[in-house]
Amino acid sequence: MKILMVCLGNICRSPLAEGIMQHLSNQQQLNWEISSAGTGDWHVGQSPDQRSIQVAKANGYDIGNQRAQHFNQNMFAQYDLILVMDRNNLKDVLNLAKTNEDKQKVKLFLNDDEVNDPYYDNALFNPVCLQIEERCKHILKELT
Ligand code: 4NP
Repeated sequence: MKILMVCLGNICRSPLAEGIMQHLSNQQQLNWEISSAGTGDWHVGQSPDQRSIQVAKANGYDIGNQRAQHFNQNMFAQYDLILVMDRNNLKDVLNLAKTNEDKQKVKLFLNDDEVNDPYYDNALFNPVCLQIEERCKHILKELT
């Protein structure tokens, strides 16, 4: 299973989702390939936001080696599932889809809700991390 996690900057939410899902799937020896990308390109090549690195670490996950990448059209072919954090991400990713097959790979990470963007609110990092962790565990159960 190859899963791409997508948010806006690829430095706060989707790195958490990538790191947590990779960790949990590794624990189950699933050989899943998890990555992440942003619909915006401002942070390409950068490490995750220090606040995400810290909150991940506090919850037992290491995301410090990740580097931000910009979502692009090739990624539809490279992944089985593209999980987006909010409805703006959904719109931006679907705008780049060329086929129905591409479109069907794209889903909201929370199914019918959004992961709040914590970039401008320090207090959101911990609840966002816990929400992402809980959802990753659920998705893992659903897909195995
Ligand atoms: P993310 O958060 O989409 O969860 O990575 C953001 C990171 C950076 C910006 C916005 C959101 N930004 O405007 O630079």
